[in-house]
Parts: sequence; structure tokens; C-alpha cells
Amino acid sequence: MRQDILDFLVQHQGEFVSGQEISEHLGISRTAVWKHIRILKQRGYVIESYTKKGYCLKEVPELLSERAIEKGLTTKVVGRRLVLRERVDSTNNVAKKLAADGAPEGTVVIAEEQTGGRGRISRSFLSPYAKGLWFSLILRPPIPPMEVSKMTLLAAVATARAIRRHGLTECGIKWPNDILVKGRKLVGILTELNGSAEKVNYLVMGIGVNTGITEDDLPEDLKPIITSFAREGVAVSRIALLQTLLAEIEHLYAAVCREGFAPVLAEWRSLSCMLGSKVTVTSIDRTLSGTAADIDENGNLLIDTASGREVVMAGDIHVRQV
Ligand code: BTN
Repeated sequence: MRQDILDFLVQHQGEFVSGQEISEHLGISRTAVWKHIRILKQRGYVIESYTKKGYCLKEVPELLSERAIEKGLTTKVVGRRLVLRERVDSTNNVAKKLAADGAPEGTVVIAEEQTGGRGRISRSFLSPYAKGLWFSLILRPPIPPMEVSKMTLLAAVATARAIRRHGLTECGIKWPNDILVKGRKLVGILTELNGSAEKVNYLVMGIGVNTGITEDDLPEDLKPIITSFAREGVAVSRIALLQTLLAEIEHLYAAVCREGFAPVLAEWRSLSCMLGSKVTVTSIDRTLSGTAADIDENGNLLIDTASGREVVMAGDIHVRQV
């Protein structure tokens, strides 16, 4: 029914049509029309509405389509198999199932909406319909499981490169897996691993980039800490951004398979927005305060504290404002 309302509005694009007209045309109540219009607005359709004039469709959101994504894709492997869904709980969950069933390296699962988007440490990740890129990439890297955390750094570098190329030049990486703009989070990355002590069977690299999220989409507590291309006033095509991002990942991944992680770590340092800052790190067993000095060759964070240099393998970083 929602599609029928949309079709009707598209046929009359630029004109006002009353709720009465739509309800008579489709044989549903005006309240039902109003409810569907409200959902369409949440999904990014710009529909003006006035009590006396009715509804007017002004703007249609850019929706993902396999054909449009494939058309401008320059990669050889990454994203060559695409699984596009309207709504999933988490693209990482879908990708893990596909990977376990033997999906080839490079498979990308992408969704318009995630109902159970997941972040690190069992946190949830807000992923509203068509307001971001929510996707997961299956890789089978020829590296020992110990090295997998560095794949998250690779993902962060590739994503930061792509975001900069699409106009948000001031984004920076916060260890280990966030990309921030002016202190607010634009991207989250969640890498999940399946394998034994010696061998990686597969790795699922989940990336969430906020593109169209506006203040209205955010609960009060997230308003000061989440940003998006829209909140930063930068127009972006999700499809073009995805194509760039997949190309950057493929490029860096090929380089890592050839030469190891050193170039990725060097670029990570130059893209970091927190090295040199005063930070507090909370991990399972301790809290540390000091200066974020560097990352080591394994991608661990090095903190200079009053009692010396500490190595942090995992934790939550709070950058202290001075
Ligand atoms: C974090 O902020 O801690 C990481 C967030 C990762 C979000 C992405 S969106 C696509 C993929 N699916 C998920 O459920 N999570 C990742």
C-alpha cells in the first residue's frame, strides 16, 4: 500500500494532492494515508504537507540498487558479489552466515536498514532506513589470527580516504575503529573473526557510515556525539561513496597481502585525530590516563602515563578536552 501511495505522489510530483483524494483512489482511510506518509518521510522522502492543500512530493531519496552499485564499481573482487537487503538485523550477522556457507571473498552484504545494528562491546549501532551505508565485507586474509586487529585499522584508513575524497576533509580516526568529525562520530567499524589459533577461516568487516542522519533521527543522548554528512552540510551520493570505499579497501588489502601492514600503520598515524591528545582508556581490568603517544607495529595503542609507557590492546578511549 505504501508503494501505491508513493506511486500516486510520483504521478503528481510537484503538485499537492489531498489526503481525501489519495484515500478515495486507494480505498483506505485518511489516517492510514497519513501513517504511510509519516513512514515515507522517515525513509528520506521529502513530502510537504499542509492541512488544507494535502501532500506534495518534493524529493526522492537515493536508494541502493545492485545495478547502480555495480555500474560504477572499479574493483576486481571486493563487492563483485553483492547481497542487497531492505532490512536485516545486522549485515554482520547475514555476512557471517554466508561466509560459513562458503561465500567467496569479496562478498558484500548491504542493507537500507538494520534493526539490530551492532557495535563493539555489545553496543547497538543506530542504522535508520537509507540514512547511511550499513554493510559487511567477507574476507579470507592469508594472515595469522593475531594480526586480524590490524584489518580494522586498514578498514579505518580506507574509509577515511573515501570520506575525504567525498568532501569531508576534516575527518580523523580515533583508535581503534571510529572516524570522527570535530569530535563527533561519523563511522563505526566492527570486525569479526572466525578461525582457529593458526588460521583465519573468514573475517567479516562491518562498516557503518552516517550519511543522511539528521537531528530528528537521533535520540537526545546521541545528538551531541553522532554526526553525518548531512549534519556537516556535505551532500553525498551513498552509491558513489560505497564504490570509492570498496575500491580503497581493495587497494589497501592488495598492498597488505604484498608488503604487510607497515604502510597502513603509517597512514593510520597521519589520519589519526587523537595521537598527542590527553586520553583516558577504560578496559576490562583497568583505567589509564595519559597521552596517546603512538600505535605499535601490532596496532596496539601506546599511552604515556605518569608511571611510564603502557600498551593497550583493547578499550574505550575518552579524549579529554584541554
Ligand atoms: C562501533 O561503533 O563500535 C562499530 C559499529 C559498526 C557498525 C557496522 S554497520 C554494518 C555492520 N553491521 C553491524 O551490525 N555492525 C556493523
